[in-house]
Amino acid sequence: MGEMNHLPLLLHLIFFIVLCVSAIASGEDQFAYSSFTGLNLTLDGAATVTPNGLLELTNGTLRLKGHAFHPTPFRFSKSPNGTVKSFAVSYVFAIYCVRPNICGHGIAFVVSATKNFSTALQSEYMGLINDNNNGNLSNHFFAVELDTNQNELFHDINNNHVGIDINGLTSVNSSTAGYYDDIDPSTFHNATLTSYKVMQVWLEYNGDRRQINVTLAPIHMAKPTKPLLSTNYDLSTVLTDMAYIGFSSSTGSFVARHYVLGWSFAMNKPAPAIDITKLPKLPREGPKPRSKVLEIVIPLATAAFVLVMGTTAILLIRRTLRYAEVREDWEVEFGPHRFSYKDLFHATEGFKNKNLLGIGGFGRVYRGLLSASKLEIAVKRISHDSKQGMREFVAEVVSIGCLKHRNLVQLHGYCRRKGELLLVYEYMSKGSLDKCLYDLEDKPTLSWAQRFRIIKGIASALLYLHEEWERVVLHRDIKPSNVLLDDEMNGRLGDFGLARLYDHGTDPQTTHVVGTIGYLAPELARTSKATPLTDVFSFGIFVLEVICGRKPIDQSAQGNQVILIDWVLDHCHRGLLLEVVDTKLQGDYNVDEASLTLKLGLLCSHPFTNLRPNMRQVMQYLNRDMPPPDLNPMHMSFNVLSLMQNKGFDPENIANQMTMVGWRDRIGVVTGSTIRDGIPVLFLTAHGQDELLGRCRIRTMAAGRGEQMHLAPASSVKIERSTG
Ligand SMILES: Nc1ncnc2c1ncn2[C@@H]1O[C@H](COP(=O)(O)OP(=O)(O)OP(=O)(O)O)[C@@H](O)[C@H]1O
Ligand SMILES: *[C@@H]1O[C@H](CO)[C@@H](O)[C@H](O)[C@H]1NC(C)=O
Ligand SMILES: *[C@@H]1O[C@H](CO)[C@@H](O)[C@H](O)[C@H]1NC(C)=O
Ligand SMILES: *[C@@H]1O[C@H](CO)[C@@H](O)[C@H](O)[C@H]1NC(C)=O
Ligand SMILES: *[C@@H]1O[C@H](CO)[C@@H](O)[C@H](O)[C@H]1NC(C)=O
Ligand SMILES: *[C@@H]1O[C@H](CO)[C@@H](O)[C@H](O)[C@H]1NC(C)=O
Ligand SMILES: *[C@@H]1O[C@H](CO)[C@@H](O)[C@H](O)[C@H]1NC(C)=O
Ligand SMILES: *[C@@H]1O[C@H](CO)[C@@H](O)[C@H](O)[C@H]1NC(C)=O
Ligand SMILES: *[C@@H]1O[C@H](CO)[C@@H](O)[C@H](O)[C@H]1NC(C)=O
Repeated sequence: MGEMNHLPLLLHLIFFIVLCVSAIASGEDQFAYSSFTGLNLTLDGAATVTPNGLLELTNGTLRLKGHAFHPTPFRFSKSPNGTVKSFAVSYVFAIYCVRPNICGHGIAFVVSATKNFSTALQSEYMGLINDNNNGNLSNHFFAVELDTNQNELFHDINNNHVGIDINGLTSVNSSTAGYYDDIDPSTFHNATLTSYKVMQVWLEYNGDRRQINVTLAPIHMAKPTKPLLSTNYDLSTVLTDMAYIGFSSSTGSFVARHYVLGWSFAMNKPAPAIDITKLPKLPREGPKPRSKVLEIVIPLATAAFVLVMGTTAILLIRRTLRYAEVREDWEVEFGPHRFSYKDLFHATEGFKNKNLLGIGGFGRVYRGLLSASKLEIAVKRISHDSKQGMREFVAEVVSIGCLKHRNLVQLHGYCRRKGELLLVYEYMSKGSLDKCLYDLEDKPTLSWAQRFRIIKGIASALLYLHEEWERVVLHRDIKPSNVLLDDEMNGRLGDFGLARLYDHGTDPQTTHVVGTIGYLAPELARTSKATPLTDVFSFGIFVLEVICGRKPIDQSAQGNQVILIDWVLDHCHRGLLLEVVDTKLQGDYNVDEASLTLKLGLLCSHPFTNLRPNMRQVMQYLNRDMPPPDLNPMHMSFNVLSLMQNKGFDPENIANQMTMVGWRDRIGVVTGSTIRDGIPVLFLTAHGQDELLGRCRIRTMAAGRGEQMHLAPASSVKIERSTG
């Protein structure tokens, strides 16, 4: 009885052991790989497992086949009558093609009696068959092909299809690669096998219903309910009892790489899910995987490129602004005389201060070198806002450019910008005469011969301007600072005609006296009308200045105002004329020439116009074609200072006095005058370099006391006298 009691326990134990064995057995009947690293696959042909765990069936080399099989076979048939059990497979794949629309040949999942496909061919045979065993019942394989090449031999439907194959490659059912999603199962979505997009395939075989389902979907998408292919086929007639599972692939004439990223299999149940988060990464597209360096370099290079482009754009805009010019239709005729601002900008190295030659009343003068012609130039920048009169002025400049005389500074041309006019002159290497007369720090004083030659040269230039050119050109601003010296120390008259600039475009109710106090003929104060004889007057002062080395209005050691003409006349009356000759010459001068030029200077700067010679006569005196002028004592009995003083301090006359009294700087535009605290106050707008100086207070000479005049701020200005 006791023994009988043990029997159920023993049965229980046996049953338990059997259960365990079946559990172990069923454990062997399934797997799920998210990587192929470390697996014992049977590989042949081109198939390899890459270091990062990809199963690479073909590697891009042409006409190759590759196989990868699970090393051990599975039992597919149920004993005793040998029907094939249900099984399920899923796998993740990707196909890379150089040209995705012509590619070959695809990947086949295969359940086969053998792993030995050595007799199979590559290319369209997919490594599964050769040219004489397609469909041979002794092949004993079942496959699902992902076919990327259309082959007439196997009645392929297209070059992007999924097929179910039995013992050969002529599919029993096939469909264009794609899927039906669960939201709208009637709509078919194409999928391109060769897109190198990661996709998943599910294969299910129901052993009872003898039904094969194949489903495809992009990775990240759950398995669609509606399969792509469904075929009823009894695999019992195909498969052997024990069969291997694996992949086969081949390449033909097109470079392609076939990858399997993950794989799962199960007998008698759905295929285990593949953990898609753990799948190995595909190599980058393209024949050569790009290096990490490039991954860094390319964004950097792109950024640099964008930066460079941006900078270039900004520079181009700045450049256009920088080189912007004003050019109008009427200028076309002056074309040859027009310089581009860009050329001038480069010639003067961007108007650098180191190229600044000097600052004159009209603006700054820069030295430059035109790169094209290797011509040395001096560029004068004149700020000028008035558009009015610009045409006339440019016409004048151009016509002046046509003036050619060895004692004139050649004007090469001009350039116009907004609010600015640039005049391009011949470069004078020795600078202006006033510097040679007064700033003697590093220069030897001018010799008598040089001075005489300069005077003759300027006289001949003025004669040319007044009489020898097709029309009379007045200089209107003769003074040593407008006389430049060339390499041979020849005097060259510059700035001619420039005074005209301020004549144009002004109120016709007012007239202007343009010029520099000290050199302005007294009649200009009354008539405001420049004539050749007003130029002669300035020339006379200029001659006296060059010989005496003194400014037209100077200060004596006692602080008194010294008017150069009065001072020379005084010496003349006392018979000591030659004593006025510049002491810096230390007596080294030609007495005849000195006496001639002094007399000529006095004659030219006579207050009475009718006593002044014209330039032709001046030239004749200098060339000794005429005997030296004889100064009539009666004519010479004037005194500029007293002339001025006799007029008293009637504010109305102050403007007149100013032209006679002179000023080292230029005159401002007088807009009104009054007497305040016994001191005459003159209002004038001063044309400084760029800015209007506004109202300045001027103290003129108080009744003969020789008080110094102040112009605050001291600047180069012009005088204007209302004719009304
Ligand atoms: N062609 C030139 N070659 C060399 N230096 C020049 C030339 N033109 C002018 N300069 C220099 O530039 C300085 C300024 O010239 P600018 O003629 O403008 O002034 P300014 O003679 O003092 O007054 P103004 O405006 O009445 O002419 C001159 O003193 C001279 O040194
Ligand atoms: C891999 O499988 C083959 C065939 O079953 C076997 O001979 C071999 O020993 C296995 N190797 C390893 C490392 O498991
Ligand atoms: C591909 O594999 C074949 C066979 O293993 C080999 O000869 C060939 O060099 C490989 N090609 C590349 C590009 O790795
Ligand atoms: C094999 O046996 C199963 C039951 O075990 C049965 O359903 C099936 O019809 C049999 N198949 C054949 C071909 O006899
Ligand atoms: C594969 O089969 C061929 C002939 O069919 C045979 O020569 C070869 O040895 C076999 N290879 C293996 C590894 O069994
Ligand atoms: C099928 O293959 C076997 C073995 O390779 C061969 O003997 C047989 O003749 C083939 N059958 C046909 C129809 O080609
Ligand atoms: C899908 O592909 C087939 C064959 O290439 C084509 O005829 C069809 O128009 C495609 N359908 C869509 C929706 O792209
Ligand atoms: C095949 O798909 C159909 C339609 O969804 C389904 O009814 C059937 O059960 C599937 N068969 C297998 C073997 O999964
Ligand atoms: C092929 O598959 C389609 C889609 O599942 C199915 O509708 C058709 O009946 C199948 N054809 C064959 C011959 O099995």
